[in-house]
Amino acid sequence: MGHVKILAIETSCDETAVAVLECSGGLESPSFKVLGNSLLSQIEIHKEFGGVVPMLAKREHEKNLPVLLEKTLAEAGLDLENPDINLIAVTSGPGLEPALWAGIAFAEGLGKRLSKPVLPVNHMEGHILSVLYKGAKSPSQTLEFPALALLVSGGHTEIVWVRNFGEYEILGQTRDDAVGEAFDKVARILGLPYPGGPEIARLASVSRKRIAVNRDFPDAVRERATGIRFPLPMLHSKDLDFSYSGLKTAVLYKTKELGTMSEETREDIARAFEDAAIGILVEKTRMALEANEAKSLIVGGGVSANTYLQSELKKLMENFPETSLLFPERTLTTDNAVMIGIAAYIEYEKHNEKLPSARILAEGNLSF
Ligand code: KG4
Ligand code: ZN
Repeated sequence: MGHVKILAIETSCDETAVAVLECSGGLESPSFKVLGNSLLSQIEIHKEFGGVVPMLAKREHEKNLPVLLEKTLAEAGLDLENPDINLIAVTSGPGLEPALWAGIAFAEGLGKRLSKPVLPVNHMEGHILSVLYKGAKSPSQTLEFPALALLVSGGHTEIVWVRNFGEYEILGQTRDDAVGEAFDKVARILGLPYPGGPEIARLASVSRKRIAVNRDFPDAVRERATGIRFPLPMLHSKDLDFSYSGLKTAVLYKTKELGTMSEETREDIARAFEDAAIGILVEKTRMALEANEAKSLIVGGGVSANTYLQSELKKLMENFPETSLLFPERTLTTDNAVMIGIAAYIEYEKHNEKLPSARILAEGNLSF
């Protein structure tokens, strides 16, 4: 089993990403070396619209892809005209369809020109398998099955049962907005720029520190400290589903009720929202871990960068010593092409290197 070189392309949302990976070890001990990796975020372009505009994203991907390809191949030391790669991987869904099509058309064109197979990859599988990359911060991190995955991003909020590579089952998901989307919408309500997750988290941490420093309140009585609290949405639904649109509306009403707010009050609202939005993720994860004996808990997607979520999950895991908590490398938490290459390698190994060769279709709602 030699090395497999994969050129991976990701365009499902507002990040154009290209990577070249050298993969080895097979399904037993998969190992990845990133030879080249470039990413262009379109955040600045979509900022003024308060969210991602699909047709605008498509146009930007089309513009960026040739540039990023050249840059990535050069970084990997590969011939630009005839790069020594085994296959091309591209995200086929879920995501914004116009954006996905930009990546697929580019990958297929390239595949034809270079006579290389093109493999479609499920973006969510990419997020799950991103933990297979052993970086400087996680040199010995190993994924053991069965595993649970908590996937939290701007488009998804899911708890997935991962029986093995390629064997996924969604145990619960959001019925309306994704958690990252809720962070973005609440940020807008508070007049903060897009993407709102890091902005809300920053304000919330100021509120949290102020409460801790000033009065040393435990979490449960923060409500009385600031007078602002939102209930955990879907706490009593008895399933593993989520709902974030009611929480967002509750924040909207609260800000209307308060009228002009001091900076401290905005921080307290951000903190109360984060308490509820993250609190319910942790509660449902606890329920999932109680009902299923998992050897690993994988946390992926943009919201996994949230430090409050990270610290609450670490606390939670003290109750589940048999389960190891796995986060991807920091740079792989948000959308990237490395995770797409990783998922492609696993597919390639699973199919004994015989790849399906149907036309690739963009599937905005692609599930597992
Ligand atoms: O995975 P990702 O890069 O893109 C997809 O949605 O697929 O996730 C982006 C989302 C955005 O909604 C952003 O606000 C959120 O992740 N996010 C955060 C944090 N950093 C990014 N949410 C909460 N806390 C953060 N620190
Ligand atoms: Zn994503």
